[in-house]
Amino acid sequence: NAVLDAIEVKKFGGELSEEQISSVVAGYTDGSVPDYQMAALLMAIFINGMSREETVALTRTMADSGERYSFPECVDKHSTGGVGDKVSLTALPIVAACGAPVAKLSGRGLGVTGGTIDKLESIPGFTFEMTERQFREQIERVGMALTEAGDLAPADKAIYALRDTTGTVDSLPLIGSSIVSKKAATGAGFLIYDVKCGSGAFMKTPEKARELAELLVDLSEALGVSSSALITDMDNPLGRAVGNALEVRESVALLKGEEAPEDLARMARAVAVRLLQLKDTPDPERAVEEALTSGAAYAKLCEFVEAQGGDPGFLESPVVSGSVAEVRAAEGGYVERFDALGVGQAALVLGAGREKKGDPLDYGAGVEVLVRSGERVEAGEPVALLYGEKNVERAEKLVREALRLSEQPTESAPAILDSL
Ligand code: URA
Repeated sequence: NAVLDAIEVKKFGGELSEEQISSVVAGYTDGSVPDYQMAALLMAIFINGMSREETVALTRTMADSGERYSFPECVDKHSTGGVGDKVSLTALPIVAACGAPVAKLSGRGLGVTGGTIDKLESIPGFTFEMTERQFREQIERVGMALTEAGDLAPADKAIYALRDTTGTVDSLPLIGSSIVSKKAATGAGFLIYDVKCGSGAFMKTPEKARELAELLVDLSEALGVSSSALITDMDNPLGRAVGNALEVRESVALLKGEEAPEDLARMARAVAVRLLQLKDTPDPERAVEEALTSGAAYAKLCEFVEAQGGDPGFLESPVVSGSVAEVRAAEGGYVERFDALGVGQAALVLGAGREKKGDPLDYGAGVEVLVRSGERVEAGEPVALLYGEKNVERAEKLVREALRLSEQPTESAPAILDSL
């Protein structure tokens, strides 16, 4: 019995062969390996880890478990998940406007971390449902298409659901193979990973984030995808807006050249430049500036939204909740950080995220932070706006606790901590 053999090997820290890995993964995906045996194997992997060869084999076998698309000319990006992370909404229209086609796989929000699918679904009519043919046709016509996992990497979908309920999510080889298998199945030839680091992220320290970034790049390259990674701050939310329509509104402001948060502008440019560098685009910095100042990047966003069924009129004036409460500072001080986890939790309880699986979202709900690390705040000054009707008191308490003030002057947090 292949799975029992594999459990015996892994529980003593041994190494599985590629055949053993593919046989177990195939068995679990077709239902012939039961949950309890797979759970035992996953826990043994969690405890004893996997070698590079095992991790590459697991990634490849999961990527091959369903359909595999092929878009060797296209770029894609992946964020490990953050609060206020609207880099996909901003950097991708920029690169598409610069002539690098985008074929991206997106996800929904998970806990306090938002998902690009939820953000774009705040636009009336927007859909992620499309066949491979429609996806391909839209990339050719518009230069940018986003889809959900659908039939891609079904083995990962099954294994992830089991990990989620057996305490085996936070294992580096399991996370790395899960992410890269889906990306490889989507088939873009060039990828950037934005590995978030801090209170509002999966990885809490720069060392852990770097370890994951190195693994993601290594696994991608092993599967033939040219890739690089940034490690970016998630002790603070990115930009000011947290919540689906609020984030669309902030992204539109940036792409239209209106006033936009500095950290978001820097991140969107950095990710766009990196993707263009992977594609060997000449003078990527200049191309990015031109796409922004000429309005081409915003026009690309509108074209993409319309192609996926969304109302581009919404982009002109995104609808956010009309119910707005102001939070004022109880005392004065210098902002050390506006803790991303707390702000994310506040946005979630207001209705921007899901407290349990399947909860409906209030797309117009969320938080806008009005002060940022490094700034001085006086007692009584407004520090955040809460949008939404649900749980406003709970959200206010969370936001108050999230605002960390110091008596000493503080520095503004850098958006990009490290890169490889
Ligand atoms: N995201 C994924 O897609 N997989 C993981 O294992 C963790 C986060």
